[in-house]
Amino acid sequence: MRHLLATEGLGREQATAILDTADELKQTLLGREVRKLPTLRGRTVITMFYENSTRTRVSFEIAGKWMSADVVNVSASGSSVNKGESLRDTALTLAAAGADCVIVRHPASGAAHRLAGWLADAGTHVVNAGDGMHEHPTQALLDAATLRERLGPLDGRRIAIVGDVLHSRVARSNVHLLATLGAEVVLVAPPTLVPTGVGAWPVTVSHELDAELPAVDAVMMLRVQAERMTGGFFPSAREYSIAYGLNAARQRLLPEHAVVLHPGPMLRGMEIASAVADSPASAITEQVRNGVHVRMAVLYHLLAAAEEEAA
Ligand code: CP
Repeated sequence: MRHLLATEGLGREQATAILDTADELKQTLLGREVRKLPTLRGRTVITMFYENSTRTRVSFEIAGKWMSADVVNVSASGSSVNKGESLRDTALTLAAAGADCVIVRHPASGAAHRLAGWLADAGTHVVNAGDGMHEHPTQALLDAATLRERLGPLDGRRIAIVGDVLHSRVARSNVHLLATLGAEVVLVAPPTLVPTGVGAWPVTVSHELDAELPAVDAVMMLRVQAERMTGGFFPSAREYSIAYGLNAARQRLLPEHAVVLHPGPMLRGMEIASAVADSPASAITEQVRNGVHVRMAVLYHLLAAAEEEAA
């Protein structure tokens, strides 16, 4: 695998290999006082974040460090981007400085693909850490890792993805990956927060959360992305919460085994009540924990697996 830019087009074998590696890494490091493997010693990983992040940025940094890579963090605000340097020139500069892998988050959909094109001759690997409203593949992989832990194989499992689907790269990546892993996906959202191209996706669409909850194995709540809601007729926070917020009463409609996910950051009280987010059904903290192992696995498959197989 040269880059990880999207889950659309990621094969079942590749996705499963990443998830299995993440499981193995988690088991290997479990209970260890020193969580350090030598696998990426001498390799340089650069994170380049043009949008805010807590979970993705920190877990990529920890993942790289636990694998002994040298990790360098670049943010738009502290770099020459603030002086007007283009994404292309920034990427070529980082590659020339010795980056083996660039992890990029950018507000423009398609930015990671552009970067991969510009770095084609440099031999630098690219990971998409979220590009606009397009994809966030490592989020979907860590969600799948968490669901597999709680539910076992995902074939035939029914997963509801709820809320602001229109603006959500997390939803797009999950739709493709969950379908690849054999799950059924139902998108539950107000009509104005469903993307127009959804007819081509491997999903069904519903606007009635209460009707869907009794038949799902997991419910993935999405963040309402107020910052991307410019123009259009969107529900108010109150309307949204009444119709689509996951509160304790709604949680009682779920089957007992059902898992509650949220990619974070959460708007408690709007998308999800604290009583639900902090309940035993919630796997939100596990999602963050699994994010480190999944990102270690991604770095391994990009930077080390081919060499290890050839040796
Ligand atoms: N889920 C997610 O991408 O969170 P961050 O924006 O904090 O990285």
